[in-house]
Amino acid sequence: MASVNFDFIIVGGGLAGLVLGARLSEDPDTSVSVIESGSDLREDPRVNVPAMWPALLQDPNAAWQFKTVPQESLGGREIEFYQGHVLGGSSALNGLSFSATSKANIDAWENLGNPGWNWTNFSKAIAKAYHFDETGKGNGPLELTVPAEDSEWPRVWRDTLKALGFSVANDPFSGEVCGGLTVPDSIYPSTKQRSYSGNAYLKSALDRSNFTLWTQTSVDKVLFDKTEGDTTIVTGLQYTTKAGDTNIVKARKEIILTAGTINSPKILELSGVGDKNRLDALGIQTVIDNPFVGENLQNHAMVDVSFEVKGGEKGFETLEKLSRGDPGTIAAAMDAYQSRQAGPFSRSGANHAAQLPFPGIESEDGRQRVQRILRQTNPKSDIEKTTETFAAAHEAFVHSVLESPTGASASYLSAPVFTGFNSDGSQASALQVGVDERYFTIVLLLAHPLSRGSVHVTPSSTSTSSHDLAIDPRYLSHPLDIEVLASHLQYAAETLAATDPLASHLKAGGKRNPTGPQTGSFKDLENVKRYVRETTVGAQHYTGTCSMMPRDMGGVVDSKLRLYGCRNLRVCDASIIPITPRTNPQATVYGIAELAADIIKSGA
Ligand SMILES: Cc1cc2nc3c(=O)[nH]c(=O)nc-3n(C[C@H](O)[C@H](O)[C@H](O)COP(=O)(O)OP(=O)(O)OC[C@H]3O[C@@H](n4cnc5c(N)ncnc54)[C@H](O)[C@@H]3O)c2cc1C
Ligand SMILES: *[C@@H]1O[C@H](CO)[C@@H](O)[C@H](O)[C@H]1NC(C)=O
Ligand SMILES: *[C@@H]1O[C@H](CO)[C@@H](O)[C@H](O)[C@H]1NC(C)=O
Ligand SMILES: *[C@@H]1O[C@H](CO)[C@@H](O)[C@H](O)[C@H]1NC(C)=O
Repeated sequence: MASVNFDFIIVGGGLAGLVLGARLSEDPDTSVSVIESGSDLREDPRVNVPAMWPALLQDPNAAWQFKTVPQESLGGREIEFYQGHVLGGSSALNGLSFSATSKANIDAWENLGNPGWNWTNFSKAIAKAYHFDETGKGNGPLELTVPAEDSEWPRVWRDTLKALGFSVANDPFSGEVCGGLTVPDSIYPSTKQRSYSGNAYLKSALDRSNFTLWTQTSVDKVLFDKTEGDTTIVTGLQYTTKAGDTNIVKARKEIILTAGTINSPKILELSGVGDKNRLDALGIQTVIDNPFVGENLQNHAMVDVSFEVKGGEKGFETLEKLSRGDPGTIAAAMDAYQSRQAGPFSRSGANHAAQLPFPGIESEDGRQRVQRILRQTNPKSDIEKTTETFAAAHEAFVHSVLESPTGASASYLSAPVFTGFNSDGSQASALQVGVDERYFTIVLLLAHPLSRGSVHVTPSSTSTSSHDLAIDPRYLSHPLDIEVLASHLQYAAETLAATDPLASHLKAGGKRNPTGPQTGSFKDLENVKRYVRETTVGAQHYTGTCSMMPRDMGGVVDSKLRLYGCRNLRVCDASIIPITPRTNPQATVYGIAELAADIIKSGA
């Protein structure tokens, strides 16, 4: 096969990769190719029908099926998780919630030494990605919808938060959310199909002769075969097709890695970019020695609690029958979707949320409790590689959030159904509770973890297998994280769920989830912590393994997203995030890809 050349080659046709492919090919003088390992499932209902994505996670042809190493602070549990292995990447199978992170979070990125990565500039980049008809906000190709409310539960959620003194009129894109909010879904308002990089962005790119897309093609490694002084130059890539043919493709200008937080550092290590000692032990020749490749893995620790509801009240129906797979209920939901673009299949079901400050921070007692917790320090660990300057900056940011009465340290999601996660990370279902029981669930995400882990290749790692990586998020390894998550869970169970009107619709003395706390047992924070260690899993919100920050602080890429030590390779996906976003990251990753496209087009 004759070798082909492109100006830009983008590795990974996921969320960020297709945004970059579409934006860079807007210039007719530039040729762009995107190489995606997964298949093109743009016509598959599991991608397009909003509520069907969980079915894709179980399909090894559509999802990377990963597992963590045993998590020491979670009783040695290993936790399963997924990433999209399909055109559109994780944006083709994510939970559809779309909300921005905080202004303070983005400004903290700039303060690490990343000029231009501040809220003023970055919020404009996010707005280039989406269009939200209902509010007139945003001017991008992705479309957002807030579903119609067809039960009383959303109102009850808001009224309960109001009764606790919180605002519920928060704009998810203000950067300053504190209190209740309604989170839009990345769903087309008219058709109620998923809106994601695989349709919203790809459509325009596919019409251009300068845009080339290869699916079912996996990049094995980046080829560095020139060095100039102390900087290297990449010339191309080695890739393997589905049929097993291995070939080389050349880049005239740049290679852009967008394989995601787990796979981007894997490709770098397989190409000889990483910690020399580690690569030596694996027999990989080092091209760029950087011990921080694959480090600073951050993710939201997640925990939930379900409460039995009274049942039988009009307007307070729950979704257990659907969750149990009752055929009549599924048929009715499918009919509502097909004939009226309505019902539970037309939305994410995670729209009614809150982002709350540390419980009690508004009182003197609360402030003193936070001060006591903050005095705990991180035990020095030799497992994690970071610098003292980054550790201090990360800690200063998280402390400032905890001390602020308007900073949010946890995200709360509510759902009128028994749901949540089993201790191995799998989705809990109503099949696990009695047929006549009905529940209301609150899911909590630790917004700003201080625990940091890593992703590294092992002797058997290849570009396509899911089971050959050492993935160690080190959940709750930082003592502050468990204090904060347990304090919020205690608040959710003992205060929020005990406040009217929500309390009046829950069964007095009713059941909780099977492993859950009986009423009142969460008054003791030690009980809450035990439950947190037994049940916490990770959200699918991995960031940080090719962090953007100064090299001597522990960075892998600079503020133009260029790999340190290389002239023409950038990383432009969720892996460059140095401090994880407050909540679900997709809006932030769209912003990163839009900003990256601006930077590249400006020639910087
Ligand atoms: C199940 C799930 C639910 C989620 N829910 C939400 C949510 O509700 N809201 C939210 O905001 N966020 C959510 N997220 C997170 C969000 O989708 C991700 O943060 C985001 O998609 C990351 O974008 P990315 O471009 O970094 O990586 P991805 O979108 O994962 O794209 C990476 C792409 O690179 C490809 N690739 C990898 N290796 C190679 C290789 N060697 N060669 C070629 N191609 C390769 C992959 O197949 C993939 O297509 C969810 C994620 C998951 C997995
Ligand atoms: C882009 O496409 C145009 C029209 O098809 C073609 O003339 C031009 O050579 C292409 N440019 C590149 C850089 O491939
Ligand atoms: C944010 O970044 C932009 C772009 O680099 C810059 O013009 C601006 O001065 C920065 N700071 C603030 C506070 O907006
Ligand atoms: C943000 O700042 C970068 C770097 O200064 C610039 O290239 C880009 O155009 C700015 N983006 C927006 C959306 O303002």
